[in-house]
Amino acid sequence: MVEVKSLCKKYGDFVALDNLDFSIEDGEVFGFVGPNGAGKTTTMRIMAGLIQPDSGRITIAGTDALKNDRRLKSLIGYMPDFFGVYDNLKVIEYMEFYASIYGITGSKADKLCRKLLELVDLEDKSEFFVDELSRGMKQRLCLARCLVHDPQLLILDEPASGLDPRARLEIQKILKRLKERKKTIIISSHILQELSELCTSVGVIDRGKMLVKGKVDDIMLHLNASNPVQIHVTAGKQTAVNILKNEDKVKNISISDNDITVGFLGTPEDEADLLKKLITNNVKVTSFVRQSGNLEEIFMKVTEKREVLFSENKDKSSLW
Ligand SMILES: Nc1ncnc2c1ncn2[C@@H]1O[C@H](COP(=O)(O)OP(=O)(O)OP(=O)(O)O)[C@@H](O)[C@H]1O
Ligand SMILES: [Mg+2]
Repeated sequence: MVEVKSLCKKYGDFVALDNLDFSIEDGEVFGFVGPNGAGKTTTMRIMAGLIQPDSGRITIAGTDALKNDRRLKSLIGYMPDFFGVYDNLKVIEYMEFYASIYGITGSKADKLCRKLLELVDLEDKSEFFVDELSRGMKQRLCLARCLVHDPQLLILDEPASGLDPRARLEIQKILKRLKERKKTIIISSHILQELSELCTSVGVIDRGKMLVKGKVDDIMLHLNASNPVQIHVTAGKQTAVNILKNEDKVKNISISDNDITVGFLGTPEDEADLLKKLITNNVKVTSFVRQSGNLEEIFMKVTEKREVLFSENKDKSSLW
């Protein structure tokens, strides 16, 4: 669906994007993650045809996205990271205005817009003025707006930034509905916790470079391979420790009561073999668990030295 190759963008002498590469398959939800100033908005604006890169290529559904033709506009729904001011426009008028841009008017537009308002749980707000909506509602309206032409690809730049936990959950619920409708989605964020349920793949960008990318499951597996294994035994602790000490893949062992925490660099199959060995040697194992990582940890690991940037941007919510 999306192929980004060697994308470069400078603002004056400042390198915002440095040979960025990534791809997104049909129906995927791609979490585009990175600290403030990493280059997420720049990338998304280029994808949406709003700014030009200095070099590189982007193909969207087989179309050269940098040529910015009409077909591309019909393929993409772009939700920017800001919401403009819309004095004296009612919610339904706002929606119908955007529908008219795509040539949808009259009763067809009315029907479509009401359906989309329903999708984002704003059906009872259609007669409200846009400026009377809460921030979360505005963001949902913005999402509904970028669906009027039924695009295949949604480019969502921090759709839940600045929202409280309930409003974030609302956005998440709507994104799940869109995922079920087989939309391909790229969604940017600082914080990954909530994205982990939604995303099928993730790319971590920092200082204009893609540091990690891949399927969430693959990245998790890779990350988890360096997480400790926690073993709880009710008998045979010393035997267990002796076995563990002789295992190549065991890097360290710590013991607290009947819990043994093991730094174990092995695959899930290696874990199964180790568990079997313990059991056949009469160690009574009641629990054997590889501590699981989360996307948050991936982000922290790959952007380790940049943590301070999180707290610098005071006007943004620390979540998403
Ligand atoms: N129009 C511009 N002129 C000059 N520099 C810019 C411009 N737009 C962005 N930049 C710079 O390019 C870098 C990348 O910005 P961008 O907005 O793409 O980051 P981001 O990952 O979206 O950050 P955030 O998480 O804060 O939204 C930043 O250092 C930013 O200051
Ligand atoms: Mg941004």
